This record gives sequence, structure tokens and C-alpha cells, in this order.
Amino acid sequence: MIVAIDGPAGAGKSSVARALARRLNFRFLDTGAMYRAVTLAALQRQVPLDDSYALAELVRSLKLRLTDDEIWLDDTNISDLIRTPEVTRNIKHIADNLQVRAQLSALQRNIAEGGCIVTEGRDQGTAVFPQAECKIFLTASPEERARRRYEELRSRGTPLTYDDILAQQSERDQQDAERPVGGLRQAEDACVVVSDELTPAQVVDRMEEIVRERIALMKS
Ligand code: C5P
Repeated sequence: MIVAIDGPAGAGKSSVARALARRLNFRFLDTGAMYRAVTLAALQRQVPLDDSYALAELVRSLKLRLTDDEIWLDDTNISDLIRTPEVTRNIKHIADNLQVRAQLSALQRNIAEGGCIVTEGRDQGTAVFPQAECKIFLTASPEERARRRYEELRSRGTPLTYDDILAQQSERDQQDAERPVGGLRQAEDACVVVSDELTPAQVVDRMEEIVRERIALMKS
């Protein structure tokens, strides 16, 4: 069974999707981490971000390994390195590249083969797994997403203001929505979960309910 969770940046997808996978005893795939890993590798190896051919070659040569909690490039655990502002700022070049998208989508389908998985990203229920048995679109208002991000960064001593974060988030939302292939769209058959008024645990409860209802329907 494939549970595909899509939604905008800052909706809290990764943490709740990971928790959902644990509850269901499914594997977990964070596809954003794959786009981040390619961006990091391109920056480290100084591959020009506007060179489609070189980027596609780079993806072919990468030794990426994903577990439920970590991502490795060759022998290095890059789980923290992929979360820097520099990677986030440059990711659009990788996410807009059609060849890279095709390669990463194929890799995601390979990973999902032969087992139950919760996968999260922007295009999982629409482009990569349109046949997924269960699709969830997890979202929250832009203000609430920015507020959460601000609280998180403030505890780590960020110089950014709430308004800076809201502006950066709007830019990413626009890039993700306008991407012609693999852009953020709600699948027609997705269940929508709006998390503004919910705690993370309540979001996981609601998503688990949706998946269990779906499993019951499939059995009947
Ligand atoms: O989920 P996360 O914020 O880590 O994703 C980082 C970026 O990777 C997104 O803003 C988007 O540009 C890209 N992405 C994508 N398709 C996915 C997952 C992420 O294009 N399935």
C-alpha cells in the first residue's frame, strides 16, 4: 500500500508522515530530502546549476542511500547538511530540471516497490504515484506555517524576523505551485487535512484514521 502525502513547505509533513509510518509499521520516504541531496552534491562538486545535462549526469553518478530517518551520500550522513539555507535557496534549479525529476521519480518508484510505504513531497499523489491507494493533502495557512517556522528558528537564535520567513515561504510556495512538471497540486482523490488548529499528534491521529478507513474499504 502506498500512502502519498503532499503539501506546501512548512506544513509539518516530514515529522507527521514519519510518525504515521511508524504507527502503521510502513517504511517512510522523504522525497524533499532527495531533491535537497542533489542540490547539496551539485553545490559541493560545483556543477553549474543551469546545466541540465551535467545535473542529469550528476544524479546518475550519485550514491544516495535513504533510511527512514537518515540520508547518506557515499559514506557521509548528510541529513543535517541538506537543511542549510544555501541548499534551500538553490533547490529550485534541481526541482525545475525535467531530467532530474524523471530520475528521482523512477528512484522513488523503485524504493516503494514491494512493500507498504508512506511517502511525502509535492508530487507524490499526482505525478509519481497517481495509483496510490491513499492520498492526503496536508496544508496550513501561510501565516501559521511561517509562525511555526519562526518559533522553531527563534529557539535556535535566528536573526530572521517573522516577516522575513513569511516572504521566503511565499517565494517557495510560488515556485512549487508554478512548476509545470511535479508542481504542488492537490490530487482530485486526496483527503485534505488542514493543520492550523491541530497539534502534531492530532494530525497523525487524523491521518491514521484516514488510512485505516481506506484499508477497511479495500478489504470490503
Ligand atoms: O519537503 P522539502 O521542503 O524538504 O522540499 C524541498 C524542495 O524540494 C521543495 O520546495 C520542492 O522545490 C522540491 N521538491 C519537489 N518534489 C518533491 C519534493 C520536494 O520538487 N516531491
